[in-house]
This record gives sequence, structure tokens and C-alpha cells, in this order.
Amino acid sequence: MGKHFLILILLFQGLYMARSLIPAKYDGFPYGDNSDISNAIIVEAFFDPLCPDSRDAWPPLKQLFLEYYPHLYLLVHPFPLPYHDNSFVACRSLHIANRLNASATYPLLELFFKYQEKYYNDPTKNLSRAAIIEDVARLGAQAVGNALLSEFKDGFTDSRSDSATRTSFKYGCTRGVFGTPFFFLNGFLLPGGGSAIDYETWKSIIDPLLGNHEGGVDESASSF
Ligand SMILES: *[C@@H]1O[C@H](CO)[C@@H](O)[C@H](O)[C@H]1NC(C)=O
Ligand SMILES: *[C@@H]1O[C@H](CO)[C@@H](O)[C@H](O)[C@H]1NC(C)=O
Repeated sequence: MGKHFLILILLFQGLYMARSLIPAKYDGFPYGDNSDISNAIIVEAFFDPLCPDSRDAWPPLKQLFLEYYPHLYLLVHPFPLPYHDNSFVACRSLHIANRLNASATYPLLELFFKYQEKYYNDPTKNLSRAAIIEDVARLGAQAVGNALLSEFKDGFTDSRSDSATRTSFKYGCTRGVFGTPFFFLNGFLLPGGGSAIDYETWKSIIDPLLGNHEGGVDESASSF
């Protein structure tokens, strides 16, 4: 009796976790229009839009993507660090933008990087939550189109943007992310998480992998 009860509890717990954790689609915002994921090196970046190291990490990563296209598949996961007071709102606004106008997601991320200091803890400590959301919605409308300002504000009362942002955070947690930027290459964590990677370092990481790609399956198989 006791044993069956325990099994039942575990079963329900499993169902509950599956229901609460598994999202309907893979987290993250793909950059560019590269859909040929099977032939590309998959680069995943966990960025906090209000983190200076994420800001510094973006230009070299973007340059790398543009230069190596279509050999790279780039996906950015928003990851709101808990000690950045406005990060959850910022990450949520990326999900709102993505829903309103998907091609505005990265322009909004870049606006955050540009005006980031304004949203740090100190300069916003006297502001109400509502004032911050109002300000972020205006920034968001700059990216998605100013005609969508009221839709953008409504996005902050839409539970879907809340749960999408929670999913982004939880997904980072399941991958062991505890700072930003964190990078994964073909699913493997790059060491040195928490710091920006410059362009030359990226090249030295990607080029050998690309050599393997171009050699094809036969060549790499022959080395065994
Ligand atoms: C969607 O966002 C892009 C990038 O900011 C912008 O160029 C475009 O005009 C927007 N689309 C609409 C319908 O406003
Ligand atoms: C916040 O309010 C306090 C008390 O009124 C003031 O001393 C401080 O300068 C304000 N800080 C900012 C960043 O506005």
C-alpha cells in the first residue's frame, strides 16, 4: 500500500514536472535565416541584455556569424541574471518583440546593449516597476515599429510572455548557466563562461571544427 502510494506520487510528480518544464518549442532566438541546422556548427549564446559582458560579446559573435554564414547556426537564449533588477523585464520584452515582429528581436537586443547603463540597478533604484516597464515598452516599440506601442505594453500583461521568459531562465538553469555570456558549441560548454570572446579567439575555435566539416564524414572516419 505504502509503496504503491509512493509510486503514484512519483508518477504525478513526473507528469507535473513534464507539464511545467517542457515548452512547446525550443528556447532561443535564431539569428539570421539559417535553417540548415544539420550542416552547421551550432552556437548557442546565453545573454543578459543588461550585462556589460554580453554587450561586449555580441559584436564579435555577430561578425563571426556574418563571415561564416551559412556554416554557423546561431541561437541566443535570453538569461535574466537575478542580481540585475530589470533583467527579467528586459528579457520579457525580447519575447514580446519576437511575438509582435520577429525581425525586431535582435534590433531590440542591440538597443538594450546601446542604452544598457540606463537600466542598471543604481540609476533605476527610485523608479517604480510601472515606470520601468513603460520605458522598456517605448524602447521595444522603437524596434518593432512605433505603431505597436500599445500592443507592446499589453505584452507585459500577457501571461505568455511571462512564461516564455521563465522558460528561457529555466532552460539556462538546466544547462548549468550561472552567468552571462555563456556559450555552447554543438551542445558543449565553452570554458571561460562569463566573459566576452573576441573575434580572433572565436576564429581559432571555429576554424578547426570547420576543417572537420569540409573534410566530410569520410576523412574524419579514416583517421580512426
Ligand atoms: C519589424 O521590425 C523591423 C526591424 O526593426 C523593422 O524594420 C520593420 O519595419 C518592422 N515591421 C513592421 C511591420 O513595423
Ligand atoms: C533616489 O532618491 C534619493 C532620495 O530622494 C536621492 O538622494 C537619490 O539621489 C535618488 N537617486 C537617483 C539615482 O535618482
